[in-house]
Amino acid sequence: MIQWYPGHMAKTKKIIAENLKHIDIALHIIDARIPKSSYNPLLERILGSKPQIIVFNKADLADSSANKKWIMYYNDKGINIVETNAKNRQGIDDIFKTARDLMRNRREKLMRVGYVNVPIRLMILGIPNVGKSTLINAMVGSTKAKVGNKPGITKGKQWIRIGDEFEYMDTPGILWPKFEDEMTGYMLALVGSINDDLLDFEELSLKFIERIVQRYPEVLLEKYKLDRLSDDNYTNLVNIGKKRGCLIKGGEVDTLKAAKIVIDDFRSGRLGNITLELPEDIGHE
Ligand code: G4P
Repeated sequence: MIQWYPGHMAKTKKIIAENLKHIDIALHIIDARIPKSSYNPLLERILGSKPQIIVFNKADLADSSANKKWIMYYNDKGINIVETNAKNRQGIDDIFKTARDLMRNRREKLMRVGYVNVPIRLMILGIPNVGKSTLINAMVGSTKAKVGNKPGITKGKQWIRIGDEFEYMDTPGILWPKFEDEMTGYMLALVGSINDDLLDFEELSLKFIERIVQRYPEVLLEKYKLDRLSDDNYTNLVNIGKKRGCLIKGGEVDTLKAAKIVIDDFRSGRLGNITLELPEDIGHE
């Protein structure tokens, strides 16, 4: 996975700005479980007046009532948002519909002066692991057709046509995650957007348990068959380890093993539908 350094970010920003000149709409993919931390507000600055659609991917793993709150939050700001499950192609048609609606006036104008089949050009952007490649595959479906290199597009970029109406850059724009505070780092780590090799799983699991105790306490009680939750999250981790048989010599609990189980259960959806950040968290951490 890419490591982000300031020089690297500046270069990426330049390439994205260059590519954006050639498209009509940016599809900004975020992870529905952490809508605050997986959203890169710097993209808005690079976008300027270019329309964006926020694609709320992995909505199948998130909490549907939280999804609704986020949709209202963005709708109130006049930003288009579409919920997707790229893995199962759910919501893909809503992306096309929203894009069509956004471009309707411009296309009608062009058609009045004689253009036919003016494609709507899209680009997919997002931080690592939000599902950009999966989404591209879901959008292309079986209608994939390469359009070939176009002058002015960053070397190596290809346009792919989807039906008669859409074209998009086949290489997604990888945005750097924002590292603005410690909690954002934990959130990104939990959904796998930061290289696992760099992580302290035990510490991460404690942050996760802390949030779950606040928001979804019943999830831990039910999934790990705990009798009750402690105010001390390390004790909760130890109890989860006991229930899961994570023991080392002498009957002590292997808390690292327990931590990995908890994080893996969350990432794979085995803990059920969970959203770790709500609109009200913006500006509160
Ligand atoms: P990226 O290009 O943004 O880095 O992400 P990518 O498409 O590689 O997707 C990252 C992981 O997220 C993949 O899982 C992918 O299957 C999964 N994923 C993408 N979109 C969705 C979605 O809407 N819902 C769910 N549940 N999962 C999604 P993986 O474990 O790396 O691979 P695989 O085992 O699924 O093949």
